[in-house]
Amino acid sequence: MASTASSATIAERDARFIASAIKIRYTPFVLAGGDGAWLVDADGRRFLDFGAGWSVAHLGYSNRHVRQAVVAQLERTTYAGLNSTVNLPAVDLAEKLVSLIPGDGPKKAWFGLSGSDANEAALRLILRATGRRRVLSFVGSWHGTTEATMGLSGHTAFTAAPGGGHITKLPYPDPYRNPFGARFGSDQVVDQCLDYVEGYLFKTVCPPEDVAAVFVEAVQADSGDVVPPPDFMPKLRALCDRHGILLVADEVKTGLGRTGRMFAVEHTETAADVVLLGKSLGGGLPLSAVVAPPEILDCGSGIALFTVSGNATSCAAGLATLEVVEGESLVDLSARNGDYLRGRLAEVLGKHEPVGDVRGLGMMIGVDLVRDRVTKEPDQRLAAKVVYRAWELGLILFYAGSWGNVLEITPPLILTREEIDHGVDLLDRAIADALAGKVSDEAVAPFAGW
Ligand SMILES: Cc1ncc(COP(=O)(O)O)c(C=O)c1O
Repeated sequence: MASTASSATIAERDARFIASAIKIRYTPFVLAGGDGAWLVDADGRRFLDFGAGWSVAHLGYSNRHVRQAVVAQLERTTYAGLNSTVNLPAVDLAEKLVSLIPGDGPKKAWFGLSGSDANEAALRLILRATGRRRVLSFVGSWHGTTEATMGLSGHTAFTAAPGGGHITKLPYPDPYRNPFGARFGSDQVVDQCLDYVEGYLFKTVCPPEDVAAVFVEAVQADSGDVVPPPDFMPKLRALCDRHGILLVADEVKTGLGRTGRMFAVEHTETAADVVLLGKSLGGGLPLSAVVAPPEILDCGSGIALFTVSGNATSCAAGLATLEVVEGESLVDLSARNGDYLRGRLAEVLGKHEPVGDVRGLGMMIGVDLVRDRVTKEPDQRLAAKVVYRAWELGLILFYAGSWGNVLEITPPLILTREEIDHGVDLLDRAIADALAGKVSDEAVAPFAGW
């Protein structure tokens, strides 16, 4: 029945039966199908995808190799769990991830179902394994939506959900909006942030000998695709080493080629102690991973298990996804196409006065919309209107950011140059139309976004 229903009918039923708690919507788009970098709604209309479902669809939609691997596994068995039985796809995937993650020393893998549970498992296991009680994370970070990971996150979306009194939030070195104030530029922002941690927090409320780990995104995604200066990660690594603190890289969104390297930490050759994966790892199926030294992951049994985590179907999809990423050199493609896309966005969109900044790495790009280029006051309403107008024109993307004013551009990595040019043209038109008043306040009112 659903397959013959119109987009409008399905959207109306969605409003009646699907909980708001699971939604941040920007348009009434009904995703009914997809191929390559294109999505199809329930009315058969095609849309170019500049979002990849929040950086899940690295390979685009309906990748043949992943589909075949999933079907082959389902034909063997529809379910093989990991907590009380062994399954080969999980073992193969664990071995593969251990070989891929940068850094020396033995490692193992833990599997879950979403980026949130990977963060939560890592948090719980690290506290138990180290015997330390405190954890550090960054303002602006997004680590998940379980109770514990909302407390770990420093995103403004979670300001109403305080928690985690043992978690200290650190300023993230944003070169565009220095957290210490507009009068400071980007040159000193890394030292300002880390001096504040070591010279002040560690000497006052947060004794470093009680800090187990720092959770960090090497590119902070949901705060608006903030790329820190290149000395940040090495200096953070050194700070951790000075105090015996574990460095946890949350690569849930940045991992598997999104930023033009297999992992975002590789841009600065920083090895993390613990790496967290999710989103794209399952090729669309639920799958997350923690890759860490055995002394952390083996610190006890049954501490972080879900009945269907490490299931053979998701792991088979994960293995196939990695085979495509490697076999089709998607990491290099992401780097090359990302440079091209960022260049085109800066060139074409830069003429619009509210485009304050175009930044990113690889195929993770943020377009920061402001009311004024000098004050950099965020323009959330314009972001909402641009995203809505883009959908009307045939382009899917979302906005993110600490103030909800950043157009997030994270397309499938397989986008062609023609598709890039087409998407940039549509976005250019969407901004022009939104500025010309072609999207009413009423149209975007039901789509509050962030
Ligand atoms: C960096 C990062 N970590 C963790 C998560 C949580 O992942 P999930 O929503 O799949 O549980 C997200 C989600 O956006 C994320 O961006």
